[in-house]
Amino acid sequence: MGEYFKNVLLIGATGDLGQHILTALLKTTTTHPSQPLTISLLTRSTSTAKFPSHPSIGNIYKGDIKDQGFLTTAFSGKDIIISAISPYALLDQKLMLSVAAKVGVKRFLVGEFGMDTRDEELTDSVTVFRQNREVLEYAVEVCGDTKVGMEYTGVICGAFLEMTLLDGEMGFGFERRTVEIYDSGKKKIEVSRMEDVARATVEICFQPGRYADQLVYTSSFTVSQRDILEALDKVDEKGPWKVVERTTEWLKERGRKRVEEGDMMGLVDEIWAVAFSDGVGEAFSRKRRLVNEELGIGRGGDEDFVEVIRGIVGEWEAGRRK
Ligand SMILES: NC(=O)c1ccc[n+]([C@@H]2O[C@H](COP(=O)([O-])OP(=O)(O)OC[C@H]3O[C@@H](n4cnc5c(N)ncnc54)[C@H](OP(=O)(O)O)[C@@H]3O)[C@@H](O)[C@H]2O)c1
Repeated sequence: MGEYFKNVLLIGATGDLGQHILTALLKTTTTHPSQPLTISLLTRSTSTAKFPSHPSIGNIYKGDIKDQGFLTTAFSGKDIIISAISPYALLDQKLMLSVAAKVGVKRFLVGEFGMDTRDEELTDSVTVFRQNREVLEYAVEVCGDTKVGMEYTGVICGAFLEMTLLDGEMGFGFERRTVEIYDSGKKKIEVSRMEDVARATVEICFQPGRYADQLVYTSSFTVSQRDILEALDKVDEKGPWKVVERTTEWLKERGRKRVEEGDMMGLVDEIWAVAFSDGVGEAFSRKRRLVNEELGIGRGGDEDFVEVIRGIVGEWEAGRRK
């Protein structure tokens, strides 16, 4: 039995991604039977989140995530902290990183889970990614202190495929079976199934000698808006989808106006305006090493993609996230 990060603390366990990570952590009783994990969860005092009861779940720490004393108690004795914290609270991770380093946490998995933060062309103009970068730079600083034994890792996975489609993002609206195609619609981006992202994240607990002080890249598929549309038109009985041609400039402007009016979905427009902009940045699988194979995470081809899209259409029809 090799060394591994045994004592795990998950932040955001009932969130959109966090629930997949918790499921993957609980499944390790079968995937890694000789390496049992002790799983603790951290939740805000104001949270109404309900957690499953399971013998592998140890403590549930409920408190103020801005309170150093609370974080000190929650983080003490943990080998790895997995932060699946809300995109609205990314900067709270700075205090978390400081406290984790102080109490001797070995690895901090920062809440990245999106586009390649190190691709400045792609992420400089996006508020959320600028915050990711600020946290990442802070993690580099904290973990770079030679007196600190902590390491950081960030998982970069592109867009959460099911969630973004079902939530009407990336231009696709199931309600009216209409897609806004931005610019050419042929710009390739990385997308990942949330289950794959969760599995990649959890595998890091069992690989303490790897991925220290770096971003790791995983992607289920590399696709364009037109690839998604083609797959939808193959499997969606309620299609064909209506196409509305737009520019990413138009989308950026809509985002700006929404934010000005206090609608935070404008921040999401900001992301897609950059992601689908022809000639700005490129799909990270073209320039970064993917860890899919070494972590046992599948990388799908065209046929697999159509099947995943079929599943998403099924989820929509079953009423998920309407
Ligand atoms: N690639 C993509 O397409 C994509 C899409 C969305 C998010 N992300 C990334 O994935 C990670 C997790 O995001 P998510 O969407 O899964 O998060 P989420 O569901 O919005 O929130 C996760 C949890 O964070 C906790 N939390 C702490 N402070 C909060 C606050 N101020 N407001 C709301 N919740 C707060 C809550 O847990 P408690 O109630 O237990 O405290 C919440 O359930 C982030 O790094 C985010 O940037 C990526």
